[in-house]
Amino acid sequence: MNEGILSRLIEDCRGATDASDPIAAVRVALGRVVANIEAALAEVPAFEGEDHVLHREPTLSVFLVRQSPNTAGPPHDHGMSAVIAMLDGVEIHRHYRRGADGVALDREQTLAPGELLALTPSDVHAIANPDGTSSIGVHVYLGDIVGNERTLWDPQSGAAMAFTVQDYERMVTPYH
Ligand SMILES: [Fe+2]
Repeated sequence: MNEGILSRLIEDCRGATDASDPIAAVRVALGRVVANIEAALAEVPAFEGEDHVLHREPTLSVFLVRQSPNTAGPPHDHGMSAVIAMLDGVEIHRHYRRGADGVALDREQTLAPGELLALTPSDVHAIANPDGTSSIGVHVYLGDIVGNERTLWDPQSGAAMAFTVQDYERMVTPYH
C-alpha cells in the first residue's frame, strides 16, 4: 500500500525540525516530493481558496499554496525559515530589500515545477503567477506560520503593517 507522498513529507519534516541542519533536511524531504511530481499532484485534495493546511504545530507548518492565474500578492516576511517546492505552474518570487522607507524590489526569480527555494526568517518576498492557470506549491515553515506575528507591506505606499489574511487578500492585484 502506498503510504502517500504528502504524508511521508510531513513525517520527514517533523524529523527535520530536530536535525542539526533543519533547512537541509526539509530540502531533502521536498526533494522526494518533486522527484515524483505527478504522484504528489494526484494526492492534492480539492480545496477552496489559496491555502490548504496539511500540517500545523508549534515548530512546523506545511501548506499547499495555490496562486490564482495572473495575480500578484503583496510583500511579506515570515519570521521563520521557509522552503518552497513547486509542483505545478510557476511562481514568480519578488525579493525585496528592507530600507528606512519600507521595502524596495531587489530581484525576481521564477520557480518552475521541481524547483526549491529557501527563505530566511527576515527575507521579504511576494509571490506572483504570470500564467493563465493556477500554480500549486508546497510551502514548509519551521514554526507555526499562522500563529506568528509578522509583517506585510502595502505594494503601493510601502507602508508596513501587521500581517493579517484579510489585508493580504485585499492587496492582491492583477499580475503585470
Ligand atoms: Fe511567503
